Amino acid sequence: MSGAARPLVTAEDLLRSPGAPLPEGALLTPLARDLLRRQGGREPGPGTSAPRAARLVVANWKSFKTAPEARAFAAELREAARGAAWAATPVICPPFTALHALHEALGGVAELGAQDVSAEDEGAWTGEVAARHLTDAGCRWVLVGHSERRAMGEDEPLLARKLRAALRGGLRPILCVGETSQERQARREQAVVREQLRAALSGLEPERLRRVAVAYEPRWAIGAGVTPSAGEVEVMLAVVREGLAGLGGPALAAGTSVLYGGSVGAENAGELLRVPGCAGALVGGASLSAAKFARILGSG
Ligand code: PGA
Repeated sequence: MSGAARPLVTAEDLLRSPGAPLPEGALLTPLARDLLRRQGGREPGPGTSAPRAARLVVANWKSFKTAPEARAFAAELREAARGAAWAATPVICPPFTALHALHEALGGVAELGAQDVSAEDEGAWTGEVAARHLTDAGCRWVLVGHSERRAMGEDEPLLARKLRAALRGGLRPILCVGETSQERQARREQAVVREQLRAALSGLEPERLRRVAVAYEPRWAIGAGVTPSAGEVEVMLAVVREGLAGLGGPALAAGTSVLYGGSVGAENAGELLRVPGCAGALVGGASLSAAKFARILGSG
């Protein structure tokens, strides 16, 4: 499923050895592509700039929907899936209380994820839901570091522990990263995202790193009805991949599902999902409607 190892070439690589032949199947970051053009070099052929990572469209229901409402959604999604050829795997993250019912009602039409996980495996932690409880309820995935949880006080050390607890418990974390509007205004978005990746992922063994997906979600776009331009998304997805390459090498960077999230809807999903390097979307508000979620899935 995961893509073959494809060497990532950054602008820095090109500056270090100008005119050197590009490795076969090279994946160029947007900055490297610009620089190469200016240097008069030839880009790799068409189709070589999109890494082959598993495509995912993830629904984050936040604090919406009861178990009966989740069952009704599942019935609608199953209907929509008939005859549809979705390129991405749907993943749905409902509130904890709807996990079990939704898992049964989905009948395999989508995978199940949770919105949060305890940093502890089990024990006297009142109110905490651990990875083993989530796999028991049918979860395969879990969001870690969503900006709404960061805003509730979850800091980098806690998120790193949650991510490790998820992996230990057999879950696949979807690590959310992204800058605030102030950080973007100060042109710090790339540094912020690099640091969030490093804080959560450094020191993880390669076989664990390979189980992580990343969602780039600019905090100012979440629930706001505005998104970055396709070009801005492309740059930030490449920054995530550069960060991943630094942590685990180019094969990891090419094989990791890097998603975009923040005001994705049925009307803009096509454009966002076609951004080079985009392996899917993390969808909040629009995922509450099965019809809209199915349209997003049908967009690419
Ligand atoms: P939104 O939320 O699609 O409603 O902007 C995205 C998210 O919070 O993950």
